[in-house]
Amino acid sequence: MKGVILAGGIGSRLRPLTKVTNKHLLPVFDRPMIYYPLETLCRAGINEIMIVTGGNSAGDFLKLLGNGRDFGLKHVNYTYQEGEGGIADALRLCKHFAEEQRLCVILGDNIIQNDISPYARRFEQQPGGARLLIKEVPDPQRFGVPEFEGGRIVRIEEKPSLPKSPYAVTGVYFYDHRVFEYIAQLQPSGRNELEITDVNNAYINAEDLCFDVLEGWWTDAGEFESLRLATNLVAEERRKSALVSASR
Ligand code: G1P
Repeated sequence: MKGVILAGGIGSRLRPLTKVTNKHLLPVFDRPMIYYPLETLCRAGINEIMIVTGGNSAGDFLKLLGNGRDFGLKHVNYTYQEGEGGIADALRLCKHFAEEQRLCVILGDNIIQNDISPYARRFEQQPGGARLLIKEVPDPQRFGVPEFEGGRIVRIEEKPSLPKSPYAVTGVYFYDHRVFEYIAQLQPSGRNELEITDVNNAYINAEDLCFDVLEGWWTDAGEFESLRLATNLVAEERRKSALVSASR
């Protein structure tokens, strides 16, 4: 399975922090934001990785990450998203990279406590389709929200004002090669973007979508409050591991 990190966009919700730089280069406690999704993929044993960037400071990703040696990688692939076409538009640029293989796609502002390996293994055992990770949150209206019937997801709504469940669809997506067929059929949404939620709904309509409830904490870091939360969660994690190492 190959990995894709989506790190484009203009980060409008974090202005002026993102006026001259890319959101995914901003600090989350002691590391640039992009380090976290990169570590998440590497921890799951995914080492063929494409980073889709865009907007400001795209060249700084190369300066920061190079060929990924600090992450135990031999090579990192980069591509550039022109404009603000949305998450699915950014993913579209990875078709040639995917070479019909399965993908683990992660949003560059998603910070996850645990190793996602168990979910990746489950996806590999699926005959095909998609697999999502969902998480119960206090503010589902900020996210893609699944609606359930008989324990199955029957629809996902993007940022609904009246969420049909207390769950958020996190920014970790497992897809088979059909993802590019679905993206090719998408129409831009009200905010003029190709929505990843529409891709997921296409898999639901094809009865080809599974999910897991993500264990451990998860947050995005794309707004001031969630960036602060991410920083606090990582700081606490570092404090705990420092205590564990000190007690050894
Ligand atoms: C995006 C997706 C949304 C998902 C969220 C996870 O939202 O559109 O479905 O729940 O990422 O972080 P955005 O960050 O673009 O508002």
